[in-house]
Amino acid sequence: MSSTIRRISLGVDWLDYAMLGGVPRGNWLLITGEPGVGKSILTIQAAGANVDAMPVVYVSTETKFFDVVRQAKQFNIDLSDAVSLADVLAGKVKDMKTNLVVIDLFGLARQYRELLRASEEEGKSRAKSPLSMEVVMASIEKAYETLGVSEEGKVTKDVLVIIDSLAPMWAHAPAMARLITYRLRQRLYRSNVTVIMTNQFAPTTGMTFGFGAEHIADAIIHMWIEQPEKKKEIERWLIIKKARLTNHYRKAMKYEIEPENGLTLIEPSIEELRKWFDQYGGKQESSEE
Ligand SMILES: Nc1ncnc2c1ncn2[C@@H]1O[C@H](COP(=O)(O)OP(=O)(O)OP(=O)(O)O)[C@@H](O)[C@H]1O
Ligand SMILES: [Mg+2]
Repeated sequence: MSSTIRRISLGVDWLDYAMLGGVPRGNWLLITGEPGVGKSILTIQAAGANVDAMPVVYVSTETKFFDVVRQAKQFNIDLSDAVSLADVLAGKVKDMKTNLVVIDLFGLARQYRELLRASEEEGKSRAKSPLSMEVVMASIEKAYETLGVSEEGKVTKDVLVIIDSLAPMWAHAPAMARLITYRLRQRLYRSNVTVIMTNQFAPTTGMTFGFGAEHIADAIIHMWIEQPEKKKEIERWLIIKKARLTNHYRKAMKYEIEPENGLTLIEPSIEELRKWFDQYGGKQESSEE
């Protein structure tokens, strides 16, 4: 059926059930939550689940390339074929056969000016810092080239772009956050590019740092730790706050981060989520692909 939506798995079975199979292709998913809640681990699980099937660009603005691969390994996700964009630019990568390019913005500290000069020729960039939107965009475009998925500015294949996290892009100018994220959406948006991005959320003020990125998101998963002072333990919850183009489970789900497994469901039961998935056509939809 032509109404079938292609979906991108989040690499977490119960969360996929709760989104009827995952993020609709071309949608932008924003993962918000306080530090340590599991945003980065979720993005790594999503990268691991898709990398065999489609090219993935993973932008890490907070951790080094090596740490992304190392954290993945702790959850039995093998990202060892990944290449770092910094190594590609330095000519250190001989065999370009990879489906995953990691852009580690720290690793790019030396090369970012070169990247910008290339995009400045097109009159696009005025960036001063390696953590700017312009550098992130120029790096993503370079990663597309490395993956062989771009032709004359067009993205020729389905690609998954992960940005963990957005916040450093406006650290130098918090009041510009909305404008920066609008521009990012304008530059990066393609119907065959699915985006998963994270942003921190301050539990003290209830504000997403830098005024947030909700306005550019098609779907939002919010994660939090329930009153740790009162509970005296870490109790993690998440809820799908919105999701365009798809039905989604409406209740909060309790989870834990388990060694080897990553995000692990505690409540409701997996059977309940599977039942919900079957009831709302997820089964039918996925069998049509
Ligand atoms: N190997 C592991 N086994 C079990 N739990 C782990 C493991 N590694 C990390 N964790 C848990 O995951 C948490 C970190 O998760 P993650 O890095 O995804 O958080 P985050 O939401 O991205 O935080 P930040 O906003 O600071 O980047 C740790 O605080 C710890 O509780
Ligand atoms: Mg993180």
